[in-house]
Amino acid sequence: MSEEKIWRKRSGITWEEPLIFEKSVAGQSGFWVGPDPAVEVEKLIPAKLVRKQWAELPEVGEAEVVRHFSRLSTWNYSVDHGFYPLGSCTMKYNPKLNEFTSGLEGFTELHPEAPESYAQGMLELWSRLEQALAEICGMDAVTIQPCAGAHGELCGMLLCRAYFDDRKEKRTKVLLPDTAHGTNPASAALAGFEVVEVQTENGLLTPEAIKPHLSSELAGLMLTNPNTLGRFEKHIEEISKLVHSCGGLVYMDGANLNALMGIARPGDMGVDVMQMNLHKTFSTPHGGGGPGSGPVAVKKVLEPFLPVPRVKKEGDRLVLDCDRPKSIGRLTAWFGNALIWVRGFTYMLRMGKDGLKLASELAVLNANYIRAKLKDHYHIPYPDACMHEAVFSDHGFPGEVTTMEIAKRLIDYGFHPPTIYFPLVVHGALMIEPTETEGKARMDEFIAALLKIRDEAEANPELVKSAPHHTPVARLDEVSAARHPVLRYNPKETKGQ
Ligand SMILES: Cc1ncc(COP(=O)(O)O)c(C=O)c1O
Repeated sequence: MSEEKIWRKRSGITWEEPLIFEKSVAGQSGFWVGPDPAVEVEKLIPAKLVRKQWAELPEVGEAEVVRHFSRLSTWNYSVDHGFYPLGSCTMKYNPKLNEFTSGLEGFTELHPEAPESYAQGMLELWSRLEQALAEICGMDAVTIQPCAGAHGELCGMLLCRAYFDDRKEKRTKVLLPDTAHGTNPASAALAGFEVVEVQTENGLLTPEAIKPHLSSELAGLMLTNPNTLGRFEKHIEEISKLVHSCGGLVYMDGANLNALMGIARPGDMGVDVMQMNLHKTFSTPHGGGGPGSGPVAVKKVLEPFLPVPRVKKEGDRLVLDCDRPKSIGRLTAWFGNALIWVRGFTYMLRMGKDGLKLASELAVLNANYIRAKLKDHYHIPYPDACMHEAVFSDHGFPGEVTTMEIAKRLIDYGFHPPTIYFPLVVHGALMIEPTETEGKARMDEFIAALLKIRDEAEANPELVKSAPHHTPVARLDEVSAARHPVLRYNPKETKGQ
């Protein structure tokens, strides 16, 4: 049996959609107007490097190729396709204007080694984006170089380490609440700190929980705010004061900034260093492991340690400054994901100050709308209002239907499921983040689907337990999909089978 067939069998794929390789017919191709690529290749590539045989690519006519990939594209789900309430991911709509600006030749054709004089536009965008983010967060300086939220966290923790090294202080411990996003402890540990988990009370970190850990060994605290339960850490100011009182630093994971923009500034809450996720809050593509950006904002005391290069003004020109002796060094081979900055900056200009504030207000309102409509039908672990996401659980759900089964049944109703089984502190969590993108009509449809599932669980639990019923594939073997994500397909193996 071919590897592809084994993979299909293992993954529970039973339908017979041929692969593009299986549609291959020798001699078929699309139509190409221009020089013969075979001749061109020989002109361009030295003979000793030209492959001896053509690669075994499928030979398919243009119409078949277009149909094949168009059909496959309809099997994908995306923000452009429909409501995507994946909690903690802020799957907001990415305006197409972002694509236009990030596709402008001046940005796309700019080589990272181009002399500064050729790159004044990009350097200006770089510098203005950093200033805007600093203002939104109430911080003194920003680096936009980290390429993801987790990369920003690591950068932030390296800054803390450099700060203590510079002061010749040996501080080893970093406190993390039990609600922390998984990347937080990983970043602290990678930066060389020892992670100490602190218990939250009713989903929030309290000053009392911090007090026993205050010592000269404490490097600081990492706190996600709003936290992964969609709740605002209301004790943050008092907690910051406590951490500062023993010489520690406060790191805030600002990946959930979509709930705060224009309303509250982490810098005013005592935060010394934080990252934010452009690819969530500022509407740049997110998901599927695409390029991201996790800018880091700092207070003045940490500014000398920011990664190089920094953009600075020299006369009327912008230049890249690498002469920063205390810097933690370079974070990336070049400067980061520059076209993601263009997208984020476009979004900011388009929205303006008031628009960003409104986005946050609507994101919070939408989450609370869903919460209010569902709270009598789905268990809510915390009684008070939420921020940008609403958390439910399968506790007491009829027919012993589980969170996984609710999520699978939602697919039948045409919705991408919310985040499930995270955060871990809530057993069987369903975490719904509608973002500001959704209007009332779409949210009402989603709420109606969840209410229907609840009725189904009561009347006919088996219907929910065996969902999805209306998709090309039913239950996939998710463990195999995660362990063997890449299908190595060798067309030779299937010949004659
Ligand atoms: C609270 C929080 N922190 C950190 C991250 C990590 O961000 P990234 O996936 O860009 O590394 C995420 C991801 O969405 C997040 O929700």
